Amino acid sequence: MIGKLNHVGVATPSIEQSVALYRDVLGATKIGEKFAMPEQGVWVCFVDLPNSQIELIEPHGDASPLKSFLEKNPAGGQHHICFEVEDIEAARDDMQAKGATVLNGGKPRIGAHGTPVIFVHPKNMGGVLVELMETPKKAH
Ligand code: CO
Repeated sequence: MIGKLNHVGVATPSIEQSVALYRDVLGATKIGEKFAMPEQGVWVCFVDLPNSQIELIEPHGDASPLKSFLEKNPAGGQHHICFEVEDIEAARDDMQAKGATVLNGGKPRIGAHGTPVIFVHPKNMGGVLVELMETPKKAH
């Protein structure tokens, strides 16, 4: 049921500084505009790679869930990995049936790609916060 690796989420205290790192040090050439997702409490910026993306995330607002992460990791760090799934509700039901804790009470939210996502608690995923994202439907 697990599909493609869609992106790796990287928390940063400054998207601008991280963009400079990916662009100037690593040589990334396709970097999107920074945009806010206030309901998630994050600023987001995608760095496009040939086979995947890096999702840079910076706290947005005082209630940002990233704040405690950055208190523990002041320089930023790898925050989550995101895999695509065909059907987010089926994936959620499957995770819960297998005893995993799905954040937000199991309710999918619209993620940065405009498709529904869920997060599975790291305690059930070998210490990794896992985002599952419904594969964007391609126009036919
Ligand atoms: Co993500």
